[in-house]
Amino acid sequence: MIGVGNGSDQILDLMLANLCSKTTKILTSDPTFGFFEERCKLYSIPTIKIPFSEKMQLNIDDFIKKSKIADMIYLDSPNNPTGFQFTRNDLKKLIQSFKGPIIIDEAYVEFADSSVVSLVKQFDNLIVVRTLSKAFGLAGLRLGYFAANKKIADVFSKIIQYPYPLNTLAIQCGILALEKSNKISSMFSLIKNERRKIIQNLRKTGTFDVFDSSANFVLFDAKGADSRVYNALIEQGISIRKLGKLGRHKGCLRVTVGTPEMNSKFLLAIRDLLE
Ligand SMILES: Cc1ncc(COP(=O)(O)O)c(C=O)c1O
Repeated sequence: MIGVGNGSDQILDLMLANLCSKTTKILTSDPTFGFFEERCKLYSIPTIKIPFSEKMQLNIDDFIKKSKIADMIYLDSPNNPTGFQFTRNDLKKLIQSFKGPIIIDEAYVEFADSSVVSLVKQFDNLIVVRTLSKAFGLAGLRLGYFAANKKIADVFSKIIQYPYPLNTLAIQCGILALEKSNKISSMFSLIKNERRKIIQNLRKTGTFDVFDSSANFVLFDAKGADSRVYNALIEQGISIRKLGKLGRHKGCLRVTVGTPEMNSKFLLAIRDLLE
């Protein structure tokens, strides 16, 4: 069953506000999607966080072990801001081993190679959240949706969100966008190719730690030169995200994969900067 919301932010927020309490322990990664973390803080919902490794990877066995003391799990898959994604098999192992609700946030899934959405039919505890804000470029429309078992979807749609969850314009635009999704799927492979190009070229500089990504952005540690890189790019009209310290990495920057022209401009600017 499908439920909808004014962006996936709202779906996550409503789930936290209505399905959790101050004693609901949520297992997640560190870092995880910032909004989710902030909303947990707002509602005083405790989180158990598993940090990313030096190479910005997670280990599923750590999650399976820690899930024994958790009431709920939230994972963004791919993760924002690292771009890391567990394999489908790993996630299936976790979902299978856990009794409570598990939210898999697939905001960036169109740029990845796998999804767990089809597992919703098999596992009653699985809630897969998606959005039209990323791959469809419709962030301003505020349209998110989730797939879950009928009981969860009914409670959400008929009680939590009752009576008018979305405006008609958003519903109609969303239907149109989803109907055209096969037309834009060639864009997803273009973005994956461009992502590979950015990762390879940044690695070639030998200056940064560049992490693998399954999303439409690439995270790298500029190793103390983050402010210099960030400011030099701004001067050339290139805006990337300055994230600073993430785990043991102190100077993290995140660049969104753009058009081939934008990406080349970014890579040239980096090359000039390092010369
Ligand atoms: C992992 C993740 N989930 C959800 C969202 C929210 O998307 P929406 O625009 O649908 O609220 C974002 C936006 O940055 C995100 O990174």
